[in-house]
Amino acid sequence: MISINRIGKHLGAEISGVDLSRPLDDNTFSRIAKAFFDNEVVFFRNQKIAPEQHIAFTKRFGELEQHVRKEHRLGGYPEILIVSNILNDQGKTIGVEDAGRFWHSDLSYKQTPSLLSALYALEVPVKDGRVLGNTSFASTTAAYEALPDDMKRRLQGLKNVHSYRYYRGKNVQAQKAEQARGARVVQEHALTPEQLSSVPDSEVPIVRTHPVTGRKGLFINEAHTSHIVGLPKVESDALLSEICAHIIQPEFRYEHHWRAGDLLMWDNCAVQHKANFDYDLPLRRLMYRTTVRGSAPY
Ligand code: SIN
Repeated sequence: MISINRIGKHLGAEISGVDLSRPLDDNTFSRIAKAFFDNEVVFFRNQKIAPEQHIAFTKRFGELEQHVRKEHRLGGYPEILIVSNILNDQGKTIGVEDAGRFWHSDLSYKQTPSLLSALYALEVPVKDGRVLGNTSFASTTAAYEALPDDMKRRLQGLKNVHSYRYYRGKNVQAQKAEQARGARVVQEHALTPEQLSSVPDSEVPIVRTHPVTGRKGLFINEAHTSHIVGLPKVESDALLSEICAHIIQPEFRYEHHWRAGDLLMWDNCAVQHKANFDYDLPLRRLMYRTTVRGSAPY
């Protein structure tokens, strides 16, 4: 029996009574899809799924992306991106180690940003009996609805630029600052010019209508938004900081405490997320992620 238990005030629900390693009938899938779009973040505990099953389940929501960081795709399964701090024999990470350092929605810099992501936890870091590496989510729809009317009017019609290059630069700066404070040096694979040029900047509305639910949300984030179009830099930076700080207020958030075997999905048109890097090797974290392609924001 499938059951859905809402956890956060605005987002987050646990779905029980589903075994994702088995094919789902259309009725069960429809209930999951409805629960997903109603709750913006949903998770299933105690799942034992192979990459094929992870792919088959998420493919029912739409076409799967293949991430630009092809060196971190799972061998034989290009639709799966490895998110991990585990090192290979050459001392390089087997997956993206720094995914989610800043608040963002996945692939928001693409011309057709992602509809949803599904992250499957294979190994989670545990210290003194406590699981580390939580992921936090913030509802951009609830945040939009809570804005005062004059701010809603100000944002209507404004566009912002989402840029993968901007994000990479910001990430490198953050890594350098952490290393200067004594953090381990992350041996990353450098991106080739071809990889970078395959993700040109994208100009999109700040107020976005959800393609499935029709709800309005804020499509702007601290990781990928380089600037707001048409505003002087000082004004653009100030407005960007103000909106991003508004979105991530505790009342709009749900924080996920991982267990190995969790499959958690989030709606990239309705939430932003951020990972908590409160662990390091020898504590290992290994996750597999699929990402469903969405449509051009409007
Ligand atoms: C991501 O940003 O897609 C990964 C989040 C996480 O590792 O918790």
